[in-house]
Amino acid sequence: MAENAEPLSITAEACANIAFIKYWGNRGVGLNLPLNVSISMNLESCVSRTTAAPLSDAADDEFILNGRPAEGDAARRVSGFLDRIRETTGRREKVRVSSENNFPFGCGIASSASGFAALARAATSLFGLNADETELSRVARLGSGSAARSVMGGFVELLPGETHADAFARQLAPASAWPGLRDLVVVVSSEEKAAASLSGHSLAATSEMLPGRLSAVPARADRVRRAVADRDLTSLGEAAELDALSMHAVMMTSRPALPYWKPGTLAVMEAVRDLRRGGTEAYFTIDAGPNVHVLVEEENLSRAARVMTDELGFRTIASKAGPGARIVESSP
Ligand code: DP6
Repeated sequence: MAENAEPLSITAEACANIAFIKYWGNRGVGLNLPLNVSISMNLESCVSRTTAAPLSDAADDEFILNGRPAEGDAARRVSGFLDRIRETTGRREKVRVSSENNFPFGCGIASSASGFAALARAATSLFGLNADETELSRVARLGSGSAARSVMGGFVELLPGETHADAFARQLAPASAWPGLRDLVVVVSSEEKAAASLSGHSLAATSEMLPGRLSAVPARADRVRRAVADRDLTSLGEAAELDALSMHAVMMTSRPALPYWKPGTLAVMEAVRDLRRGGTEAYFTIDAGPNVHVLVEEENLSRAARVMTDELGFRTIASKAGPGARIVESSP
């Protein structure tokens, strides 16, 4: 083999993440430029493993998701993303992308964040783009806004921006900064959500609640940054709950409305409040779906999980803060 032969395939891994301050609403269309800052933690237990390999003489990219060829919107989204990287690098090869999640599909954890962060890492490397983490977060953002945050490890913020260059992620603290924090996903429903967040973002501006939310987020984000630095679950949890409710108020009042909650969502929210009333610190946050994430310290994890499983009958997945996107295999 020639000394500088190009690799035939590159495999990268990245974690999903849960936002304490939510990203909801874009500026313009096409570049996923967030209206507000968002802050999240990577989920160590929820990982996408994505391989990118060049296809010689193929007319189209191929996308294999969890072992099955994907078509339609999912395949177009991956191909459109690869086009952006091809435009930047001047490369033309089509690519076979195979992606697997170690967490069940439709379990309320956005696989697009982990999937596009892993694909950004693998595909930029395959096309010889020497991107540092900041640049990689910009590239990942083009696939899925929240994917920008999965590029870096631990606790990460995504800055809002008016241009592609402005909107990038930066690490607030590594995963090791808060080893006892746990996120428990409570799977209220594993049905696939009706509308991808990507199209929901454009409805944010139709809600009369949006201006109120946007004016409140900067101070709340400051509180979350301080809470992460101080490992202060009370402050983090209160801010995260309020932020999730504020985002869902926007969703529920947009036209058309996006009412994501199910009866089980409200049952979990109430169970979390009950845990608190009983002296166990626990807080909820909810993404664009009916499932609930519960934030607790390690010593309260099993109590919270027991309530969700034994009393409410829901499946759970627990995570601590996880690492950033990384290449795990490169061949030959
Ligand atoms: C509610 O545009 O990143 O999860 O459709 O999964 O690509 P995908 O979502 P994205 O929006 C994420 C919205 C959110 C809040 C958040 O993660 O900040």
